[in-house]
Parts: sequence; C-alpha cells; structure tokens
Amino acid sequence: MERLDDPTLLRAQCDAWRAAGDTLAFVPTMGALHAGHLALVDEARRRADRVVVSIFVNPTQFGPGEDLDSYPRTLEADAAACAEGGVAALFAPRAEAMYPPGDQTRVTVQGVAHDLCGAHRPGHFEGVATVVSKLFNVVGPCVAVFGRKDYQQLQVLKRLARDLFFPIEVVGVATVREPDGLALSSRNVYLSPEDRARALAIPRGLSAAANAYAEGERRADALVGTARAIIEAAVDRIDYVTLADADDVTPLADDESIAAPPRSGRAVLAVAARVGKTRLIDNLVLGEDPPPLR
Ligand code: PAF
Repeated sequence: MERLDDPTLLRAQCDAWRAAGDTLAFVPTMGALHAGHLALVDEARRRADRVVVSIFVNPTQFGPGEDLDSYPRTLEADAAACAEGGVAALFAPRAEAMYPPGDQTRVTVQGVAHDLCGAHRPGHFEGVATVVSKLFNVVGPCVAVFGRKDYQQLQVLKRLARDLFFPIEVVGVATVREPDGLALSSRNVYLSPEDRARALAIPRGLSAAANAYAEGERRADALVGTARAIIEAAVDRIDYVTLADADDVTPLADDESIAAPPRSGRAVLAVAARVGKTRLIDNLVLGEDPPPLR
C-alpha cells in the first residue's frame, strides 16, 4: 500500500494507475475506521482495480464548539486495517496540504443541503462539499463510495458530482449496525455504557416506525410521532426526527402522506439526537432499508 500525504503525488499516482488501464474506487473518510468503513472498502474493491482511501479530519465541516479537537485519531491502526483490506493507496494529508495559506474557495450545495443537518449544523455541508471537491479533483475519474448512515451527505455529494460535472460516480453502501441495532459510528467511542444503552432508543424508534410503515401507515405525523416518542424518552436532546423525500431531502409536513402527490412515494426517516455530549445520526429509507431490529 502506498502512503501519501501530498495531493500532487496522489494525483500522479492515480493518473499512472489509470494510464496503465486500471479503474479506481475512492473511499473518503475522517479515519477512526470501523467495520462500517471497511464495508465501504469492500464495496470499492468489488467495483474497481485500485482502491484509494483518504483519512482527513476536515476542519471546515466542524462548527464552533463541535468535536474537531477531540475527534478520534487512530492513523496507524487505520493504516493497518487499510493494508489488510487491500487498499492500494492511503492518503492522509495535513491540514495545510488541503487548505494551503491563502485558500479562499468554498463549495456550497443548495436545496438538498438545506434541512436536517444543514439546518442544525450551519456551514457543515459547505465544509464537506469543499473538501470532497478538492479530493475528487485530486483523485480524478473513479467510483466514490460513501455510507448511507450519512444519508443527507450522500445526497449532497451525488448532487455535487452531477452539478459540477465531476467524472465520478457516487455510490452509497448500507449502514452497518451492532447486533443490538446501534449504527456504527466513529463517535460511538464517546459513549459511556449508560449513554450507549440510552442510544439504543434510536434504532428502536426507527424500527417501530418501520413496523408501522409495514402495516400500511403512510402519514408523516404518525410515522414521525412513533419514532419520536421512543427516542425522546431516552436521549438528552433531539435535533430532529424528520420524514423527508428520499431524493431531494425536503421534509414532509405533518399532514402530508408519503403516498400522496407531490411526494415520490420514497421517504427517509432521519434522526439526529444527543446522548450525553455525543451527537448521533441514523436513518431508514422506509420500505427499502431493513429495520435495525427485527
Ligand atoms: O463522512 C465523512 O467521513 C466526511 O464527512 C467526509 C465525506 C470524509 C468529508 O470529510
């Protein structure tokens, strides 16, 4: 596995592989890799000859008071996992390499980035879109693989790739969960045992809504209410429990139904909640994703 920290050298390596006839798949991450990330690497390996992973804790996507400084950093363990997973190149730049002195450009995605995390973390998706644009420009034509746990991020990055004509296919991979339903996240390491037990209300709430959906419920207020009642009894704060159109991520109003026009019939139930100091997100595309608990 090549280990690189210079964007120019990564670009040269990716160009050389393509010139030799190899296809590339790219997995952008912030490190602290867990089985969810390794599922992205596996999918990348299935789709291309060479897999590139980036590890960069991107400062521009963290707001004031968020966990930029304490975000888990486990580079050597991550590098070992990447080598084991068949990664061809690991790119782990320093902040100055991605944002050299004088850097002034930011990339903003509108509509799809507006609600949910866009409303609760001002500037977050601008930071994500900016760093991913830089990374896409360095890696070049490839398949880029992201987790569906960050559902809105995935839709933002699909829109970004389409709108800016990046020669990149953006694909999503199903959320990996613990046996008790908790979605894997690098931030789970912050949870005390008590907080972790309370966090299980999130997969429980999503599963209850999925069951209601399976029994024919399509009204937004009923589906959201079912999940919310379970989650708010356990967590410290809910940022949102929202039913949104699965394609454009616009929230459904309380009196809307998934099944009635203008809705497409596909909807994502998305949650962001705080347990202790930890902000957790999770989601289900109703009728498509398996409920976290069966
Ligand atoms: O999902 C993440 O880990 C990050 O938001 C990403 C896409 C690597 C951009 O920093």
